[in-house]
Amino acid sequence: MLNVRTIEEMRAAVNAARTHGATIGFVPTMGFLHDGHLSLIDEARAAGATFIVVSIFVNPLQFAPNEDFERYPRDEARDTELLEGRNVDLLFLPPVAAMYPAGASTIVKAGDVAAPLEGERRPGHFDGVATIVLKLFNIVQPDIAAFGRKDAQQCAVIARMVRDLDLPLTLLLGETVRESDGLAKSSRNSYLSADERKRAPALHRALRAGEEALRHGIEDVAAVEQLMRKMIAETDGVDVDYLALVDPETFLAPLDRRREVILAGAVRVGKTRLIDNIVVPRGTPPGID
Ligand code: PAF
Repeated sequence: MLNVRTIEEMRAAVNAARTHGATIGFVPTMGFLHDGHLSLIDEARAAGATFIVVSIFVNPLQFAPNEDFERYPRDEARDTELLEGRNVDLLFLPPVAAMYPAGASTIVKAGDVAAPLEGERRPGHFDGVATIVLKLFNIVQPDIAAFGRKDAQQCAVIARMVRDLDLPLTLLLGETVRESDGLAKSSRNSYLSADERKRAPALHRALRAGEEALRHGIEDVAAVEQLMRKMIAETDGVDVDYLALVDPETFLAPLDRRREVILAGAVRVGKTRLIDNIVVPRGTPPGID
């Protein structure tokens, strides 16, 4: 696996691969890799990528000053080993100064879909995500780029950017990988104490209860949201940030009864904020108000 830290080397390696007919697959990450990231590598390959690039960059622009940028988990040696085990071709590890040289001030303003839920609670977060993802796309120039559906609103923001700015690549959205008790794999799970870890699956249980309700034809959005809140309340030490039924494209309340719905949630377990979601396929609920 090539280990590359400069933009120049990155461009040169991808150009060389492309000259040899490679299809470039790209998995952008913030490191502290888990099975969710590794499955995206496999999915990119299954979709036809023959040269896999993974980036690890903890992007300061998507963290607010009160958030966890400094303590975000980092372990380059472990990540390198995992990626080598997955036959990744190139690991891109740019330093902050390479991505944001002094004076860098141009920012991508994420579209409307960035406004509700996460966007409301984390102002500027999705502008930071869109900016770094566009920069990485411009540097790597992938044919296929893979993102995990656990961050459903991030996926929607990036899909909208790809469409609105005519970016020449195919987006691949990978299924959420879960622990056996349903907790979505996330680098931030490493913050949880043993006790908090036991409580954390409450979020997934609540979303599953919401899904069940929809599948059984409960049509009232407020009732489903209420039901999910009740489920969370059964576990001490888990505080709801939001629990909502939303349209997968707008992330606003679902208006179209024929479209699939996303049940999205964010909770705090101790100091750790966890998010998760479930997509309820189109046509499954007989109708949603
Ligand atoms: O999902 C993430 O890990 C990050 O938001 C991403 C897409 C790598 C951008 O920094």
